[in-house]
Amino acid sequence: MAYPFMTAGQAAELINNGDVIGLSGFTPAGVPKAVTKALAARAEALHARGEAFQIGLYTGASTGDSTDGALARAKAISFRTPYQSNKDLRASLNAPDGAQYFDLHLSELAQNLRYGFLPRPTVAIIEACDLTESGEVVLTSAVGISPTVARLADRIIIELNSRHPKALRGMHDIYEPADPPYRKEIPVYKPSDRCGSPILKIDPKKVVAVVETQLKDEVGGFHAPDEITARIGRNVVEFLTGELRAGRIPASFLPIQSGVGNIANAVMAELGESKEIPAFEMYTEVVQDAVIGLMKEGRIKFASGCSLTVTDPVLQEIYDNMSYFHDKIVLRPQEISNNPGLVRRMGLITINTALEADIYGNINSTHVTGTKMMNGIGGSCDFTRNAYISIFTTPATAKNGAISSIVPMVSHLDQSEHSVKVLITEHGIADLRGKNPRQRARLIIDNCVDPIYRELLNDYLKVAGSAGQTPHSLANALGMHRTFVETGDMRNTHWV
Ligand code: COA
Repeated sequence: MAYPFMTAGQAAELINNGDVIGLSGFTPAGVPKAVTKALAARAEALHARGEAFQIGLYTGASTGDSTDGALARAKAISFRTPYQSNKDLRASLNAPDGAQYFDLHLSELAQNLRYGFLPRPTVAIIEACDLTESGEVVLTSAVGISPTVARLADRIIIELNSRHPKALRGMHDIYEPADPPYRKEIPVYKPSDRCGSPILKIDPKKVVAVVETQLKDEVGGFHAPDEITARIGRNVVEFLTGELRAGRIPASFLPIQSGVGNIANAVMAELGESKEIPAFEMYTEVVQDAVIGLMKEGRIKFASGCSLTVTDPVLQEIYDNMSYFHDKIVLRPQEISNNPGLVRRMGLITINTALEADIYGNINSTHVTGTKMMNGIGGSCDFTRNAYISIFTTPATAKNGAISSIVPMVSHLDQSEHSVKVLITEHGIADLRGKNPRQRARLIIDNCVDPIYRELLNDYLKVAGSAGQTPHSLANALGMHRTFVETGDMRNTHWV
């Protein structure tokens, strides 16, 4: 079948006001970039003429500036899920009249679309490195929700991106589970198991445009690990080696899931350095730079993920050494990479990052002072709730000490105390397993809180009194947040 090749601008003309768009990709990896940017320009031109133009937008997780950034600045997004990290979209969704955003567990999006819980995607835009006439698509650096949106949408636009080599064929494992009551066990028992197809099969008759590009993934760089993130990483290693010695983690070790961002990247680097932790496997969501470095050194034997969220030089290194990396990485749809049943089955050690934790072990990863959305929960709950051991890391303070990351009560709840087994900061480790709330508070204040906030939190326990299972002073529980909002520094807090 001869596909209709055209420019990004021509393809954008095929998208109408009110369309619901499903994109390939996961984080900025594998996300379409040319048509979305042209779509933003189309929206701006239509708005200038006084015409309405907005689309609903789904993709695997966050995207890059040519997608969320350009479309947010063009005021072209009516609703968006499941995760974002772009500063302009963040500003829009935190504004009263901005894009409607709903934060969602990443493993759930594809099935929520199939179940009809959310508006059906009408257009899928899929980045591919190869496309055959019979509709065989080789995806690029991520899978995300591609299989589901390509199947549900009426029209498909392909961005055929030659930045990614056709030799990627075989790195993906495309599997879409049947919906209840017909769903069966997903046959993945270890990170390297494959259960699906290396290609995404689409209906070639639905392809309304093919746009050729050479655009790079817009993955931002990471801060080099600093003293604080390195100390957090060393504490994670200390905790895990203790568990190994005690025989609570099998000597052969268990697969690791590691979250997104600078801290996660630094923690991975420290895990790799450890002499006591054997070479291990990852069953995770995003494969970040540090994972590839450790794979080259033989410290990581295999990585299963949803995306190669690596900086461009690292991606180039993978592509230049495909014979080494090809059989050590598999990219899966997010409902498989983040599947709660598989997390429980394989016994993952999960390591995610908090914005703030409270003295009882509840975690807020998403809302600054309880109101302003940062990024979203991503897959953190998919993994944490079902982990063999769930670890949360955070620097003990933020903004040069003006914020304590440990507070009496989190200002927004993403992970409850029931799911969080271990909390780690640069100061130490609080192993919360089998502890009641009062014991947890003692451990967290003594081991994890920054010394500049220890007295304040000990005084909080005094004003909280001794009544109840989980003592709180309701007049003061959010007092540190209130003081920060009013004075810019939590150190000014006085309990009432
Ligand atoms: N209150 C206000 N701001 C805070 C804060 C707090 N308690 N704690 C941290 N911050 C700020 C930092 O100062 C920094 O601000 P800046 O960007 O202006 O410098 C920002 O939050 C990010 O912190 P950083 O220390 O660079 O951490 P990170 O890059 O590791 O990201 C999260 C941390 C929590 C934002 C990130 O991990 C995330 O979005 N997690 C949720 C999703 C998730 O866990 N996904 C993985 C599942 S597989």
